[in-house]
Amino acid sequence: MLDFAKNAREKAHAPYSKFHVGACIKTRNSNYYSGCNVENASYGLTQCAEGTAICNMVLQGETQIAEILVIGNTIEMLSPCGSCRQKIREFANADTLIHMCNKDGIKKTVTIIELLPDSFGPEFLN
Ligand code: THU
Repeated sequence: MLDFAKNAREKAHAPYSKFHVGACIKTRNSNYYSGCNVENASYGLTQCAEGTAICNMVLQGETQIAEILVIGNTIEMLSPCGSCRQKIREFANADTLIHMCNKDGIKKTVTIIELLPDSFGPEFLN
């Protein structure tokens, strides 16, 4: 997952922030989908790396994230932004693992419950 995410990070379109991010999802079917951040001259339209990976997963007909890894190029560990936490939540369950990395590799692994406690999700709409 680290190699997939690092390769995705190489593709980042981040001419404004110059902050390159890569993500990789492993699904419950053991398939891998990666993504990079895609910025826009209209800054608010920026897509995070996690969102790109989720779109790639959904495009292939999968909706169950077993694990997701996110990596920047930072000495400090990179943590998914609030918006990405909610996007991950849509496709997560209690066992889903979120791996947070610094530039060298995984620094911390948490569950979506730890990352987004008392969250809103699809089951509320049933
Ligand atoms: N970014 C991500 O791709 N994922 C995150 O979880 C944090 C932030 C991107 C968005 C933007 O292109 C750049 O990092 C700086 O915020």
